[in-house]
Amino acid sequence: MGKIKEYIEANKDRFLDELVELLKIPSVSADPKYTEDVARAADYVRDSLIAAGADNVELCKTAGHPIVYGEKLTNTSLPTVLVYGHYDVQPPDPLELWNSPPFEPVITTENGESKIYARGACDDKGQMYMHIKAFEIMMDAGDLPCNIKFMIEGEEEVGSENLGIFVAENKEKLKSDVVLISDTSMIANDVPSITVGLRGLSYVEVEVTGPNRDLHSGVYGGAVGNPVNILCEMIASLTDENNKITIPGFYDDVVEISEEERAKMAEAPFDLDEFNKDLELGEAIGEKGYSTAEHTSIRPSLDVNGIWGGYTGEGAKTVLPSKASAKISMRLVPNQSAEKITKLFADHFKSIAPKAVKVKVTPHHGGEPVLTPTDSIAYKAASMAMEATFGKVPIPVRGGGSIPIVALFEDVLNIKTVLMGFGLDSDDIHSPNESYGVFNYFKGIETIPLFFRYFGELSK
Ligand code: BES
Ligand code: MN
Ligand code: MN
Repeated sequence: MGKIKEYIEANKDRFLDELVELLKIPSVSADPKYTEDVARAADYVRDSLIAAGADNVELCKTAGHPIVYGEKLTNTSLPTVLVYGHYDVQPPDPLELWNSPPFEPVITTENGESKIYARGACDDKGQMYMHIKAFEIMMDAGDLPCNIKFMIEGEEEVGSENLGIFVAENKEKLKSDVVLISDTSMIANDVPSITVGLRGLSYVEVEVTGPNRDLHSGVYGGAVGNPVNILCEMIASLTDENNKITIPGFYDDVVEISEEERAKMAEAPFDLDEFNKDLELGEAIGEKGYSTAEHTSIRPSLDVNGIWGGYTGEGAKTVLPSKASAKISMRLVPNQSAEKITKLFADHFKSIAPKAVKVKVTPHHGGEPVLTPTDSIAYKAASMAMEATFGKVPIPVRGGGSIPIVALFEDVLNIKTVLMGFGLDSDDIHSPNESYGVFNYFKGIETIPLFFRYFGELSK
């Protein structure tokens, strides 16, 4: 371990500078106006892999943004680790809520804690780049205990559809013993954890149309169904007084967790007062009968991500709008299926629409929920690696977010995943002022080579 730490210490500034350079590239996958920037980020990742010593590094074209692939296959008798990450980021808006511009990274130190602020700092550029630096360290030491394949994509934040195709078409190329991903969070810097499950996602857009044109709200108000009012009522009816989702059949495939397992999960530290205080909530809400930690992990949820219609400009305009829309996401748990839930939602949403309006439901990207094993040698290797660098055995916890490709790694490639993430929930991923702890960045770089060492040893 001494060697790894020494190398990090000697290259600290460069490691940070390189991440800063990557963070300066606004690789927003969702917005076509950034397409060239996304391509530049892919080039940057490709060049870093080459510089670190990877072979056969290539940009793989897709119908969307390119996938960066690279490998170092030293010995067929060694196990192979497939490292997955993403170089694309979420849109940065609302820009006015950032304390510094999202693509002009700054590192600030508060109470002795340094953080790097930028869109993508944690999700996932910071966490992905740790793997390239860890690889550099192993290469420099001439100590690569496993074969390694990198697959870094540029469309995770838009659902990974093209990566899904790439995976299905490149089964042989991607053949590996385990997938290693750092794109999740830990409980705290002094409470390390490993994510052992992800929620799935069903994402839909709905449009409600009332009258065929915008109307004067005085001339017509009271007689014409207002699509904004009606959309609000329809959305409100999707959850009941116990915060249960009312879509018929929604819970049919939800695996109920045994009381023993719930008790075990409840041992992971979670402070509800702290949670409320941090978010300045009067109280947390959630499905009756479950705890807050459970609401965000083992139970599904439904949220409006955006809603619009009518007049939202300055001052008042008296209008009865013709249309109203919303984007709605549902987080899914085993064994719900995104496709099935999307269909249940669409059927139900249309069925509850009053005659006064017409409803259109458009499905967006989705993803399936996953559980990752805790009884595998790969999990054991990750646990040992984190124990060595954090001084504590990491706790297995289920995550609330989604990484759509993970289910396909299992279903299409038949490879299990280890989600060894180093972020924190307080990193504000997808929000203004996203950050990543400098501590976390270097801790990740230090821990990853140990994963390779232990996975190599345990595979013998
Ligand atoms: N890295 C996140 C997923 C994540 C974050 C999992 C924290 C667990 C803890 C990923 O980049 C992400 O944001 N995924 C999207 C999925 C999508 C856009 C299809 C998500 O969860 O919203
Ligand atoms: Mn991510
Ligand atoms: Mn994300």
